[in-house]
Amino acid sequence: MGDFVEIVEMAARDGLQNEKRIIPAAEKIALIDRLSACGFRRVEATSFVSPKWVPQLADGAEVMAAIVRRPGVRFSVLVPNIKGYEAARAARADEVAIFVSASEGFSRANINCSIAESLHRLESVAEAARADGIPMRGYVSCVVACPYDGPTPPAAVADVTERLFALGCHEVSLGDTIGRATPDEIAAMLDAVLARAPAQKLAGHFHDTGGRALDNIRTSLDMGLRVFDASVGGLGGCPYAPGARGNVDTLAVARMLEAMAYPTGLDLDLLADAADFARDLVRMSEGNRP
Ligand code: HMG
Ligand code: MG
Repeated sequence: MGDFVEIVEMAARDGLQNEKRIIPAAEKIALIDRLSACGFRRVEATSFVSPKWVPQLADGAEVMAAIVRRPGVRFSVLVPNIKGYEAARAARADEVAIFVSASEGFSRANINCSIAESLHRLESVAEAARADGIPMRGYVSCVVACPYDGPTPPAAVADVTERLFALGCHEVSLGDTIGRATPDEIAAMLDAVLARAPAQKLAGHFHDTGGRALDNIRTSLDMGLRVFDASVGGLGGCPYAPGARGNVDTLAVARMLEAMAYPTGLDLDLLADAADFARDLVRMSEGNRP
């Protein structure tokens, strides 16, 4: 039997942040409760970002207050700044996730500032999280290519990854935001990052626009990564990455890992039910996706 591989479930945050229909909080809560019964150690539940930028997740506090806190499951939330962090702490988030782009164009489109400004802005978040003892995860976006700037140099990814660790992140998740990376591109990017950070502290976050996310996970597994983000039903996409599809489908990843004899701790039957529920939730808006 292989090493344990953790899948971090993204549907409630990355999955729902791009939906045209504003999904009622009660439905989000029902989805998260189903997900947390599947055996995940971490479920990203929502984000506390500007409701003007992402109205889909404006009900984060209501969602966090009502979900069942299942022992053994950490509920993480995405925050862009100290205001978001304070809301996350008030909502009793078990983990916060901060995010930085490896490309300037996406940084500007997604959070309205440069990479350097975003790192500076996150210093106060890091300081507060450290003082409060709340674990902090980091994301790097556009690790292979950017919808605005084109290809991303691997060294740029290694640089921001190092900066996120310096801020105190216990793990950095490497995002193929537009979902078009090939395994060779992922390998070249990981070569650069692994020269500066150990594989045990890295995660893969692959959107699946080009249909190669599973191949990219296999490449990452070969290079030592053991944590991958995925979304039930393959839900999602980023509102500021036009045309990008959802995260790789959790069930597809779990099945592939099972076939490769990597334990994940997930109940695949419950996962299939949760995926059906998630797909029903977004069905109404599916035809409207970019
Ligand atoms: P801004 O407009 O430049 O900033 O937005 P601002 O500080 O001037 O704030 C504007 C308004 O937002 C103000 O309200 C603030 O109070 C409010 P007003 O005075 O106009 O009424 N505001 C907030 N409200 C609630 N919570 C907050 C917050 N912060 C400010 N935390 C900002 C800058 C960063 C806030 C904005 O650009 C933003 O929220 N961006 C988030 C975009 C986003 O959520 N993108 C998707 C997530 S990232 C992603 O999906 C990638 C990932 O999956 C990995 C991958 O795939 O690559 C992680
Ligand atoms: Mg994403």
